[in-house]
Amino acid sequence: MNLPSPIQRLYDPIWENQEIELYIKREDLIHPIVNGNKYRKLKYNLETNPKCIITFGGAFSNHIHATASAGKLYNIPTVGIIRGELDENNPTLLHARSCGMDLRFIDRSTYKLKEKSDVAKSIIAEYKDPLILPEGGNNALARKGTSEVAIEINVQLPTVNYIALSAGTGGTASGIISKKRPYQKVLVFSALKGDFLKNEIIDMSRSSDFELQTDYQFGGYARTKPDLISFINQFYNDHDIALDPIYNGKGMFGIIDLIQKRFFPKGSKLVWVLTGGQQGNIAWNYMNGGGLIEI
Ligand SMILES: Cc1ncc(COP(=O)(O)O)c(C=O)c1O
Repeated sequence: MNLPSPIQRLYDPIWENQEIELYIKREDLIHPIVNGNKYRKLKYNLETNPKCIITFGGAFSNHIHATASAGKLYNIPTVGIIRGELDENNPTLLHARSCGMDLRFIDRSTYKLKEKSDVAKSIIAEYKDPLILPEGGNNALARKGTSEVAIEINVQLPTVNYIALSAGTGGTASGIISKKRPYQKVLVFSALKGDFLKNEIIDMSRSSDFELQTDYQFGGYARTKPDLISFINQFYNDHDIALDPIYNGKGMFGIIDLIQKRFFPKGSKLVWVLTGGQQGNIAWNYMNGGGLIEI
């Protein structure tokens, strides 16, 4: 594993002209497949030496993709309880299956109950002492793992005063908030509609010392708009970095928009935590007939 993940400076007159430094922490470079916040979340869970991992996710889930990959890498059987029906050509599920993940499909209303549903209970009962990971992989050990992102930043670039990242469950943000320095502001860009994540992050991190940005979710979870897709493609042309359309593309769009709106004081040093997720670009192209940059 390539740790600490490298921090790279980005250059563009948009921020250079305001004397703002923008950096990106390349969590996507930790490992070719098991990387980003998925690596951080799995790390301490894997250290419990599970005999088997059972987890939950949607058909295009980064977490399913990463858990299946980690299972193959460390020789641990994995089971994915997937929302909805099998689509034989879905690239995320094809990958998971190629890693040996046992895929079980459950209908959407049963899926909502997760491990409390009878179907999931009977799947779980088939295995001896399985490690059950929630959807998105967010548990206490996962947050211990994500807190190490802040620990690394504070060694690599201690003068940074804004740490920004995207959030789904808020687990990654919570870990980072728990280890940030008092002079650092954490900006959390919600990938979901609404502001309910605020209380969830407060509950998980026991801190309200962060700011939730809710204006850059492009219509809600997994929704995209043409200007987001154009932004991601342009960003790739300018910086040679592929952002995913579900999390990092939306958040980076937000950071640059806030810079243009003069949200950050002159002299600010910002780091964007690139949480991986680029397998989502392949999934997006599969769903939408192409048009988005892939790694
Ligand atoms: C690539 C990527 N970035 C960010 C997130 C959001 O992380 P969290 O759920 O910890 O807020 C996820 C999903 O969990 C993800 O797959």
